[in-house]
Amino acid sequence: MISSTFAGVSESEDSAPGPQGTGDEAHRGQAARRPDEQKAWTVAHVLQWTVARFTQLGLDGPRTDAEYLLAHALKCARVDLYVRFDMVVGAEERARFRELVRRRLAREPVAYIEGTRGFHALDLELAVDKRVLVPRPETELLVDWVLERLTVLDVEASADDPDAPPATRPQTEGTILDVGTGSGAIALSIKRARPGLRVVASDVSVDALAVARGNAERAELDVEFHSADVYAGVPDVGGWSVIVSNPPYIDTDVLAGLAPEVRDWEPSLALDGGADGLDVVRRLVAEARDRLTPGGFLALEIGFDQSERVVALMTAAGLTNVQTRNDHDGHVRMVMGDAPS
Ligand SMILES: C[S@@+](CC[C@H](N)C(=O)[O-])C[C@H]1O[C@@H](n2cnc3c(N)ncnc32)[C@H](O)[C@@H]1O
Repeated sequence: MISSTFAGVSESEDSAPGPQGTGDEAHRGQAARRPDEQKAWTVAHVLQWTVARFTQLGLDGPRTDAEYLLAHALKCARVDLYVRFDMVVGAEERARFRELVRRRLAREPVAYIEGTRGFHALDLELAVDKRVLVPRPETELLVDWVLERLTVLDVEASADDPDAPPATRPQTEGTILDVGTGSGAIALSIKRARPGLRVVASDVSVDALAVARGNAERAELDVEFHSADVYAGVPDVGGWSVIVSNPPYIDTDVLAGLAPEVRDWEPSLALDGGADGLDVVRRLVAEARDRLTPGGFLALEIGFDQSERVVALMTAAGLTNVQTRNDHDGHVRMVMGDAPS
């Protein structure tokens, strides 16, 4: 049974891991703690209390969030908690954890609290804060699709020996533009997978570009960054082999109804796609054919109800072989179209 006074102790008592000043003030000063209670704040107990508090608040993944935050406070991997359930959490660590819980109770996303988010199988650890969107799993699928297409292009280019194993095939040279790079997730993953490509990333937000540049530096990846409004401000490279983007695509009037983690914390510039969500998508698609090299392709992440409209836009803009892909939940969330050869 979890003590109801868990979060009710004053800062000076410091014998409980629960947050202070997060709605539990009413309990402060109640019930003096028995000396043996202090011993009870094991990893298991701390988690139990936190999960109960997060559940009470209606957080989506209370257990996962609690584990990530406690692991962060204890400076260990999340999986290590499972072999430390009986370990007593020390006062300093509890104080650190209380602060993390307080932030989560204010609905700050776990990724911002931790300050990093792992992205893609390529093990990119990206710094993230409220200047950039937290990279999402569906965007990893977009990166996968782009990399798959590039491998197909390698095979096609290896006319001498199309059956050669991928590792021995020459990698197609080319130029890739990631529009609206945010944390740099897409551009950096592609550069890590395909170091031979020239990768350019742009964003209209100078704040986002500062985060992305920092991520590139830490990952030691040579990506060029430009401040640009869609295509206005990106360098002329004589045609892009690939243009990829996860643009803002949420309808303006939907924003207010989003989860507080998104609505109140993530940059609206990263989310707001205008009245029908397609303001930036339309601009990306309209000029894609002229900006791609013949045979190059445009790959976009889109909202779950936008595929028909985006396929129609791409087709009308002269792109061919327009295809879609689903996310992990079975929603059509990606569209790709080729510039005619
Ligand atoms: C949905 S976020 C994607 C961030 C990152 N690419 C990712 O997938 O995690 C969209 C990004 O597009 C940027 N953006 C919004 N409008 C833009 C515009 N007109 N031109 C260029 N970038 C824009 C935002 O600042 C934001 O970083």
